[in-house]
Amino acid sequence: MPAAQQPTWPDLEALHRVTAELQASPPLVFAGEADRLRGHLAAASRGEAFLLQGGDCAEIFAEATADRIRNKIKTILQMAIVLTYGASLPIIKMGRMAGQYAKPRSSDDEVRDGLTLPAYRGDAVNGHDFTLQSRTPDPERLLRAYHTSASTLNLIRAFSAGGFADMRRVHEWNRGFMTNPAYARYELLAGEIDRAIRFMAAAGADFDALRTVEFFSSHEALLLDYERALTRIDSRSGLPYDCSAHFLWIGERTREADGAHVDFLSRVHNPIGIKLGPTTTAEQALALADRINPDGIPGRLTFITRMGAGLVREVLPPLVERVTAEAIPVTWVCDPMHGNTFASPSGYKTRDFGVVLDEVRGFFEVHRELGTVPGGLHVELTGDDVTEVMGGSEEIDDLGLSRRYETLVDPRLNHQQSLEMAFQVAEMIRER
Ligand code: PEP
Ligand code: CO
Repeated sequence: MPAAQQPTWPDLEALHRVTAELQASPPLVFAGEADRLRGHLAAASRGEAFLLQGGDCAEIFAEATADRIRNKIKTILQMAIVLTYGASLPIIKMGRMAGQYAKPRSSDDEVRDGLTLPAYRGDAVNGHDFTLQSRTPDPERLLRAYHTSASTLNLIRAFSAGGFADMRRVHEWNRGFMTNPAYARYELLAGEIDRAIRFMAAAGADFDALRTVEFFSSHEALLLDYERALTRIDSRSGLPYDCSAHFLWIGERTREADGAHVDFLSRVHNPIGIKLGPTTTAEQALALADRINPDGIPGRLTFITRMGAGLVREVLPPLVERVTAEAIPVTWVCDPMHGNTFASPSGYKTRDFGVVLDEVRGFFEVHRELGTVPGGLHVELTGDDVTEVMGGSEEIDDLGLSRRYETLVDPRLNHQQSLEMAFQVAEMIRER
């Protein structure tokens, strides 16, 4: 089958040695965990839970450090507490983490000063440095992606089970955020959350039971050599699962209904996401639903729509209407990042915080008008103080972008912008 966006590996023997080693390695997740997540996503499709999926556009081997991983988890947990309160719903916490190492590119090559080299396809494929050696796809990187994912996931599991995620502690972090006067507009909501937690404490809530959280991993299933090598047959059910992550999604550039990515993911039993951009037709969405979820299993299929703030109110309704009319169970999630990328006057690839939020607002409006369920939010974020997305209460402008622009691929919300987004989305959910 045609498989779009695959690297041209120069040494196929080396590739086969690597995939054989991956096939013999332990799975990163278990089928039972993926099944639990499917149940949670089914609840989100009914409006009984809400998905928060966040992390880097592309993880980087060199940045898989304890500090960076901790900051990302901390940011997602802080957002989740605000959203839990705003939505009065359980929030499903999921990282674009522990495997987000491969990127689709619009061109196979990159040209700089007359020199043409293969495009950077993510740390699992090649290096970002613009030299022939670094840009040549190296299958050994698939092994490093596996081992780095394993160590990241190990830390995630330790954080989520070891007391780090204690609700009272996460709430204290949010109080720290509120001491900055830039965020005064969130004081009302923050104060309500504070009172709710004190009420729970006074009423004898079992906070010890709230010391642990479930945290799921996800990435774009782009490199079929890697995903296939990590697929295992579940000993209980006899069914195949892609054990590289709990949740796998198919990107906007690889979602052909008769392409290799859709075929591969139709055969594994994890919950699956598909990105839908503004040119998606209702026929395409229905064909994809039919390929990935022919039995109509709730929670199996998530459509992650990324239309752009200017288009979401126009192009999302016909898709949602047709899919709903066919009674296909789908969890609708909003990615307000990928339809809103532009180059700043000084040349940075950026996004505008207000525009990003406007797509989320449009997403909620569409679902409210149609009587359907907005099931979650998919964002590119980091826990660090970078300056990659313009706007927010700290008003990062074009000049400000140069201060700490670190991403190798798409611009990410920084820690503060992520929390602001959570407060604003919490307000939107309450109005829905
Ligand atoms: C991404 O999620 O980083 C991405 C490339 O998204 P999309 O496939 O929606 O363009
Ligand atoms: Co991206």
